[in-house]
Amino acid sequence: MIRFDHISKKYPGTTRPALNSIDVEILRGEFVFLVGASGSGKSSCLRLVLKEEKPTSGSIHVLGQDLRSISNRKVPYFRRNMGVVFQDFRLLPNKTVFDNVAFSLQVIGKSRGFIQEAVPDTLKMVGLAEKAQRLPHELSGGEQQRVAIARAIVNKPQILLADEPTGNLDPTTSAEIMSLLASINAGGTTVIMATHEAGIVDQMQRRVIELVHGEIVRDERQGGYATASIPTIVPASTADAPASEPAPVAYARPAAAPEPSLTHPSAPVPETSVSLHQAAAAAVAAAAVVAPAPIAAPPADPPVVDEVLATPAPPMTRPVLPVAPNDDPEQLTLAEKLGLRAPGEKPDQTGEQNVGPTR
Ligand SMILES: Nc1ncnc2c1ncn2[C@@H]1O[C@H](COP(=O)(O)OP(=O)(O)OP(=O)(O)O)[C@@H](O)[C@H]1O
Ligand SMILES: [Mg+2]
Repeated sequence: MIRFDHISKKYPGTTRPALNSIDVEILRGEFVFLVGASGSGKSSCLRLVLKEEKPTSGSIHVLGQDLRSISNRKVPYFRRNMGVVFQDFRLLPNKTVFDNVAFSLQVIGKSRGFIQEAVPDTLKMVGLAEKAQRLPHELSGGEQQRVAIARAIVNKPQILLADEPTGNLDPTTSAEIMSLLASINAGGTTVIMATHEAGIVDQMQRRVIELVHGEIVRDERQGGYATASIPTIVPASTADAPASEPAPVAYARPAAAPEPSLTHPSAPVPETSVSLHQAAAAAVAAAAVVAPAPIAAPPADPPVVDEVLATPAPPMTRPVLPVAPNDDPEQLTLAEKLGLRAPGEKPDQTGEQNVGPTR
């Protein structure tokens, strides 16, 4: 699904490469943590996958396509297969929750009818059905991040890239966000998340790729955060978990016992402190209710690589009955940050140009 072959990235004006001959492959349906110290190259990896940056050398394949073969004009179509979530949410402050989520569909020209169906469904999935008309400042940080996640997944991307999505949240809220990401992953979306947060990585027991100075020093299928380069910090909410608690591998199985209050997608987020393990188990069960998984949680036996790469990306559809994009500069900037429009580009109300960058 994503393959880096000998990828190096050196930014102009810098002496050492941000990434140095990286080889890595991520399969369809995986949940992968990218960990490493500040400056180790995590965000650079995500930007390369999005084709926001170009490698200095090496090749990248995403969804069966060599990124070098995607013309600048086609980049926005390619990016429709991906959702992006950031540490600082990046919501539009003057738009409601509904409109923030609708925004990413409007900017790619989806019809009003599609938006009216897709947005409520997605808000229900992230547990915000009741808050569709709120403004971002009326929400908690965790709720704001749920809106950002809803915006990232409303177009059903195959890949979700999350750059420190829990960086501004407390441990309990982070656990809730992780359970949501786990449920999205259980629905078949490949998730790649850059993070510094040791407690999360340790509890999720997913694949961990560790970068040090732009090189991969560890790639573990069910790793934790422990590393020589960064001290491990256990968040308060998980610090009292018994040391002998078994690794929570079972959370990834839809058969895991669900928490009753979370078996419906619109169930409220639990107010009380909940361990990441419990939250993730419940969310996976919830995902099984909302979205029958076309691809289950990460397979024990990963698919054969050639088979995965041979799977063609679905056709990139042209916009139907486009909703006129708003040309508010603030929104244009957000569209740029979400990879939906080229920096400085004005929307073209007449058709294809209004969907994204042509740089
Ligand atoms: N646009 C840029 N121009 C020049 N150097 C850059 C640019 N972006 C990143 N770098 C450099 O590349 C290296 C990797 O940066 P990157 O942002 O990928 O690290 P990171 O692991 O995401 O760090 P953090 O945890 O602080 O977000 C750093 O040395 C950084 O200074
Ligand atoms: Mg970063």
